[in-house]
Amino acid sequence: MTFSVQQVRSDFPVLASEVNGQPLAYLDSAASAQKPEQVIHAEADFYRHGYAAVHRGIHTLSAEATQRMEEVRQKVAHFLHAASAEEIVFVRGTTEAINLVANSWGSSNVKAGDNIVITAMEHHANIVPWQMLCARSGAQLRVIPLNADGTLQMAAAPSLFDERTRLLAVTQVSNVLGTENPLAELIALAHQHGAKTLVDGAQAVMHHAVDVKALDCDFYAFSGHKLYGPTGIGALYVKAGILKDMPPWEGGGSMIATVSLTQGTTWANAPWRFEAGTPNTGGIIGLGAALDYISELGLAQIGEYEQTLMRYALDSLSQVPELHLYGPADRLGVIAFNLGKHHAYDVGSFLDNYGIAVRTGHHCAMPLMEFYQVPAMCRASLAMYNTVEEVDRLVAGLQRIQRLMG
Ligand SMILES: Cc1ncc(COP(=O)(O)O)c(C=O)c1O
Repeated sequence: MTFSVQQVRSDFPVLASEVNGQPLAYLDSAASAQKPEQVIHAEADFYRHGYAAVHRGIHTLSAEATQRMEEVRQKVAHFLHAASAEEIVFVRGTTEAINLVANSWGSSNVKAGDNIVITAMEHHANIVPWQMLCARSGAQLRVIPLNADGTLQMAAAPSLFDERTRLLAVTQVSNVLGTENPLAELIALAHQHGAKTLVDGAQAVMHHAVDVKALDCDFYAFSGHKLYGPTGIGALYVKAGILKDMPPWEGGGSMIATVSLTQGTTWANAPWRFEAGTPNTGGIIGLGAALDYISELGLAQIGEYEQTLMRYALDSLSQVPELHLYGPADRLGVIAFNLGKHHAYDVGSFLDNYGIAVRTGHHCAMPLMEFYQVPAMCRASLAMYNTVEEVDRLVAGLQRIQRLMG
């Protein structure tokens, strides 16, 4: 099937909307992507015809809902090229996935005097849980620094690892710079020192295929809502050998084998041991539909289209006077910028008047703002449904700001 952006757009009802009297140009998918009719329909249909509490009932509807939920676990495993569905834990999103690892694996494996390595381009979701773990345990947080172009200073990385390094936690793709990090090299370095590796895949899974076996990472996290799926659902991959020894982090129903007021509690097997309480079943069904949608289009074709659009956008934006871009030339998904002396919020509000939705602020990456010594940036995201015309409108909007406000 050839990739047709107009065909793809027709699946996303919101893209036909007007905002402030102008056709919507949605350039904020890295924050959260829009949803195709197929995902909206799958979730609504589940609630209309297939909904019941999972895992507890023997009645038909409950058994069917449980089966459908477990089928999505298989789909996620297939999507990430995991060895088995039992390596997949359903979570609310990347943030919860990382907190799960920090609280469960981290609390039992990271001790005073140990260290955890992250990078200076991480989203707060991949910084704060490690700061909290370090504060609890007495471990040290070490940071791989950046080059001015928004790539990692790889030459500085080896000296940060030693025999007390327990974990490398790194984003695959920066949500601000679009930098794709050299994971193979970083993961090999961490493993040489006996450290485990966590990859934040929140900004990667929608742009190209991910193979956790080939990456050889120990943990991999992503969010459904950035992948054209529902909000409030995501997945954590954990290598089977590690997951089976991890203690639970939240207690409650569904994660136990037996509960006794006198004998205490025994746990369910992984991955269910990490899914206390009633899960977001509707979200899981929607996530399954999003994975089907993506796999039907083909991530290779999506990636090719997005890369062509990215090259066009970078080329067109180079014609805007006083536009400062952050990040390397070779990037995925996002273009962060500031325009002359204008504050990012003013630029974002101006563009919004023309129906162009970009993100403004610190992008949950305050250390990056500090590195570039700016309070905020604008960020335009390019997803599979964005077009050359939308890029032209962004460029024209920025040129208009320069003309009107100097
Ligand atoms: C790189 C990165 N990591 C983590 C997150 C957190 O994702 P969520 O809010 O879906 O948990 C985001 C979201 O913006 C992100 O871009």
